[in-house]
Amino acid sequence: MRAVDIIEQKRDNKELSTEEISFLLSNYLKGNVPDYQMAAFLMAVYFNGMTDAELLEFTKEMRDSGDIINFEGLNKFLVDKHSTGGVGDKVTIALEPILSALGMGSTKLSGKGLGHTGGTIDKFEAIEGFKFSNTRDELIKIANNTGIGLMGYSDKIVPLDKKLYSLRDVTGTVSSIPLIASSIMSKKLAIYSDAIILDVKVGNGAFMKTLPDAKKLAETMLTIGKGLGRKIVAVISNMDQPLGCAVGNANEVIEAIETLKGNGPEDFTELVYNIAALALKLNGEVSTIDEGIRKVEEVIKNGSALEKFALFIKESGGNPEIINDYSILPVFKAELDVKSENEGYVSEIQAEEIGKAAMIIGAGRATKEDVIDHSVGVLVLKKVGDFVKKGETIAKICYNKETEVEKSKKMILGAYKFSNEKVEKPKIIFEILD
Ligand code: URA
Repeated sequence: MRAVDIIEQKRDNKELSTEEISFLLSNYLKGNVPDYQMAAFLMAVYFNGMTDAELLEFTKEMRDSGDIINFEGLNKFLVDKHSTGGVGDKVTIALEPILSALGMGSTKLSGKGLGHTGGTIDKFEAIEGFKFSNTRDELIKIANNTGIGLMGYSDKIVPLDKKLYSLRDVTGTVSSIPLIASSIMSKKLAIYSDAIILDVKVGNGAFMKTLPDAKKLAETMLTIGKGLGRKIVAVISNMDQPLGCAVGNANEVIEAIETLKGNGPEDFTELVYNIAALALKLNGEVSTIDEGIRKVEEVIKNGSALEKFALFIKESGGNPEIINDYSILPVFKAELDVKSENEGYVSEIQAEEIGKAAMIIGAGRATKEDVIDHSVGVLVLKKVGDFVKKGETIAKICYNKETEVEKSKKMILGAYKFSNEKVEKPKIIFEILD
């Protein structure tokens, strides 16, 4: 077998066999197939896509390129919720304790933030002393005690994805839907779960900018998940404005805790409750989402979800008192009110710009090497559909260093669009696909 023949076949839109995909990928990982050949192959995939059979084989080969994490002995229905990434996305922080209080467990790999999107690892690391499990044994111990199994990505899990992603990044092939789907799903499939819930974000702050693209990505991931034997559903959710109000790290932890106390922002609460209800439905405990939501409301009201959160923080090395005392979290030095220069109904808040406005004051990373300031961030106080008077505060910048604050303010003002006509509050969930 020769790599060049496989590339030509893909170029000519002929289906590749299991053996050909395996040959190409395994030899690329070993260094026997050079980057220039793999780059040509990726571009052929970019233009011609992959058949379902190719997609499954491609993803399987990726999944099996590194460690597979199993959970023998974890006697719970295990859910892996995955988000394609957005601004203010703190769903994992609130969702996992709710699932735990509902008698389910969660197992998942989390990542760090880059660019305008934040990462779950960074948000939890805002809590002093908090440490993510580094080993499978640590993960199992904490997951057994709390029902929450979160682990950071390591180089040992799907190493082929890391190598391929770096090449895609410099060859204009990142945005290929089959390549994105297999990249995400290979990492989901490398860690055991009974059900996968995909939160595919769509909008100006998301990877997928249009509903048809988001649905295509979701459907491709569903094909892979089902084809490789997992229960899987996808929620298509709105990222045309930041999720909730807080964008940063410590402030997002606080917003998630408030949500566990029943005081969360409307859009965020609705999304988290629906995903938890979906998990109950997948587990066969309820037959409708509404029935599931009522069960979620119970664990919020009786405080058990909040208790699970505190327990998880304690087991992970942090101070569980943060649920009562937010001053234990890192505190910023100053805040600036961003006042509207317009009057009218907020018609749009470009989430990506808000993410960048938070990033430049230190809440995120422009490059992988940047160090995050967990205390700083942006609070989005007026959301799409709200009426705003000229001079009214629409957002707050919570900061430590003066240097980028004016620029951040300009970016926030530029991100808001207004209309004289009444604007309806947008839906948070567009569709659920299974
Ligand atoms: N996230 C991933 O993990 N992979 C992609 O290709 C794109 C987004």
